[in-house]
Amino acid sequence: MADLDAAWTRLEAAAKAAGEKRIVEFFDAEPRRLETLTLDVAGLHIDLSKQAWDEAGLEAALDLAHAADVEGARAAMFGGEAINSSEGRAVLHTALRARADVDVKAGGVPVMAEVEAVRARMKAFAEAVRSGAIKGATGKPFKAILHIGIGGSDLGPRLLWDALRPVKPSIDLRFVANVDGAEFALTTADMDPEQTLVIVVSKTFTTQETLANAGAARAWLAAALGETGANAHLAAISTALDKTAAFGVADDRVFGFWDWVGGRYSLWSSVSLSVAVACGWDVFQGFLDGAAEMDQHFRTAPLEANAPVLIALAQVFNRNGLDRRARSVVPYSHRLRRLASFLQQLEMESNGKSVGPDGQPVKRGTATVVFGDEGTNVQHAYFQCMHQGTDITPMELIGVAKSDEGPVGMHEKLLSNLLAQAEAFMVGRTTADVVAELQAKGVSEAEIATLAPQRTFAGNRPSTLVLMDRLTPQAFGALIALYEHKTFVEGVIWGINSFDQWGVELGKVMAGRILPELESGVAGAHDPSTSALIGRLKK
Ligand code: F6P
Repeated sequence: MADLDAAWTRLEAAAKAAGEKRIVEFFDAEPRRLETLTLDVAGLHIDLSKQAWDEAGLEAALDLAHAADVEGARAAMFGGEAINSSEGRAVLHTALRARADVDVKAGGVPVMAEVEAVRARMKAFAEAVRSGAIKGATGKPFKAILHIGIGGSDLGPRLLWDALRPVKPSIDLRFVANVDGAEFALTTADMDPEQTLVIVVSKTFTTQETLANAGAARAWLAAALGETGANAHLAAISTALDKTAAFGVADDRVFGFWDWVGGRYSLWSSVSLSVAVACGWDVFQGFLDGAAEMDQHFRTAPLEANAPVLIALAQVFNRNGLDRRARSVVPYSHRLRRLASFLQQLEMESNGKSVGPDGQPVKRGTATVVFGDEGTNVQHAYFQCMHQGTDITPMELIGVAKSDEGPVGMHEKLLSNLLAQAEAFMVGRTTADVVAELQAKGVSEAEIATLAPQRTFAGNRPSTLVLMDRLTPQAFGALIALYEHKTFVEGVIWGINSFDQWGVELGKVMAGRILPELESGVAGAHDPSTSALIGRLKK
């Protein structure tokens, strides 16, 4: 503990010192900077050289990782120990992408035989739906899937589908998550129940939104096909097999997973069955393989050459050393446009905690706000604030080096913007440079005095750039696994359990209390504001 406190103090001092310098100058001072801070892992080229740390800062960050025993925590996770202590569960989403012959145990019990059995059933089901061997109630093949789920049962598969879907899929895939009926209505308006397979995905099978949408989907199917016909169009994914049976899904259409897979870590499981059907098994297997490669790297690489560890340390350096409370993730890829939404759950649900597993308050800040959308679109939205706002927000920029999609020449334009933004964030533009330009244009000195400061860019905004060679299933799997492990390492350093989510419970319980009040008109006891709003809605 003394070591850990000392390591934190060193990190804070090193960050303070680095923060007083300019990132761009580190390159001259550190001839090996680029070499030390760029990595090639599992099809990803990761450049951390534009981050805010100098050599001393990086060293302090690595010392902190050692003092927090990241290596021990990593071994405990892969070893199947119950590191999700508040729920008494192991954390083994990595088993879902491991090869069948790898020895993985949860609390000492081997898991790979079961994992492999579910994978084999998923594969057989995906192939049978794709070939038309599994048909709808009227004998027609399925042309579309309606995937119903929310949070971890939605965000991952949605992102996965966007990232890897064929341009013209033979089986379309649509998603419904919200309990706002508008989403169900808009999504199903042009779907044909006779050729739609509905896959209900809920780890707990108790989630209000998902059960409401599942009920709506069943009614939608039954209106066209009758109750028995509707059953032939249903499949379910859950760890609560008693509840899926009660909902009426036939046993051979239910795919399980395990309590050692957290919702936001579940896209490697049968939760992504809909994507495996719509993209084909080989695509899904490639996604698992890419993640397995990242797992192997994370598990074996020394901390100073370990991509998830270094990305996590950059975040800790920015968040705790430099008090930067937000981070923006911008994929320069339309296919990855939902990445930030996925990361919001992965990082903010995992690490948005203020007490440790011992019940004691943490001593330092934990998860930051993460936000983002696709580049270049965001350049025309919030990048003004990133370049010239009063707060510095670290960025992660993600690019794809080669793409054959779309009209010739567009991809180079996209890449030029990606590189230009990363450079501009770090280098900025000096007032002297702006003044020279304005003078050359013949602008008066009085005007220059007011214009030049407005056109100056301070720069010194840190960023990390992740470049995939191509957006293959493997590289995409590696990217998502990279973020999972990054999130885990941050949780270890912050001293929190990254695998529970008690903070989402209170709102659920209170909605459960308010719903009957809205339905019956009999209001219960609330604060004055809530009572007034209930009264207004009842009118
Ligand atoms: O409300 C949060 C949460 O529990 C997430 O952790 C989870 O991914 C989501 O709800 C959906 O839960 P389920 O898969 O059990 O329906």
